[in-house]
Amino acid sequence: MRILVTGGAGYIGSVITEELVAGGHQVIVFDNLAKGHRDAVVEDAELVQGDVLDGEALRRTLRERGIEAVVHMAADSLVGDSVTDPGRYYRTNVVGGLSLLAAMRAESVNRLVFSSTAAVYGEPLKVPIEEDDPTSPTNPYGETKLAFERALIWHERAHGLRHVSLRYFNAAGASARCGERHDPETHLIPLVLQAALGEAREVVVFGDDYPTRDGTCVRDYIHVLDLARAHVIALEALARGGAPHRVYNVGCGGEGYTVREVIDAAQRITGQAIPVRLGPRRPGDPAVLVAGSARIERELGLRPRHQDLAAIIGSSFRWMLAARRAAA
Ligand code: UFG
Repeated sequence: MRILVTGGAGYIGSVITEELVAGGHQVIVFDNLAKGHRDAVVEDAELVQGDVLDGEALRRTLRERGIEAVVHMAADSLVGDSVTDPGRYYRTNVVGGLSLLAAMRAESVNRLVFSSTAAVYGEPLKVPIEEDDPTSPTNPYGETKLAFERALIWHERAHGLRHVSLRYFNAAGASARCGERHDPETHLIPLVLQAALGEAREVVVFGDDYPTRDGTCVRDYIHVLDLARAHVIALEALARGGAPHRVYNVGCGGEGYTVREVIDAAQRITGQAIPVRLGPRRPGDPAVLVAGSARIERELGLRPRHQDLAAIIGSSFRWMLAARRAAA
């Protein structure tokens, strides 16, 4: 298949691109490089530098490259940031998404896999969270992703757009080639590892008064390679002509891990003591986000291969060490 991956130079997008190329697909990455990295795009994929708000550039790329399906990752994606700058999230995630849909319609491309998020659920009423549970986002990031999921459903009814929305829980870990490289970094695991490497003075734990086993937030960390595989499988299901639209959680399920458990695991793996300071809660953070992942396993056959937290953190750590050696 000829596949366009918007946001394919970012952390998750670059691993998806790698997996698609490894599976024999032809991949065109469309990325404005605002947060992505040119060198994260695997050599066998093509990079087109462009913004999803630029409908003309999108149309041209879809047409000239003969695109058959799209993976839409390009987004603003930080919970805390979205609370302080909601306008940007609506513009990038909703307006940008609609610009993509208009371009796809104009060029008769009607298959899409959308990068959605567990943040659409907000503070869950029960865990694990199932796909049909109520959605009530507690931050503009989740709100804008949900708005686009719903736009997709209306586009399917009106224009026959076939799509899968994948609601990611917490992507973590690295492939041998691509890992998490944000600037500034806000995600827990890379921050903890930076502290272990002595690149940051300490880790600030955002609140320890949540109703969880140790008072810190619980998250469901899914290895980025498993997440990438979910996209490949979803694209293949759409190509086979499966359901016209479907929503799936992508997480490992189980108990999830608290912030303190992540820090403890990182200390064991790195052999370094990690200084920790307690800070206030971060606005918009739900206490517990753990996926019910039965649907994607039952319908698409996805079972995570890298569930162990230590293995996930270990892959990030190895990638960080290799990246630093290469830069030295
Ligand atoms: N945390 C800290 N200190 C830090 C950073 C994070 O205590 O310095 C805590 C957060 O409060 C949260 C947990 O660690 O409880 C994980 O935080 P991340 O920032 O790593 O990830 P989020 O859970 O906020 O968000 C991630 C993605 C979102 C996605 C969400 C779904 O960034 O896109 O997972 O679970 F929506």
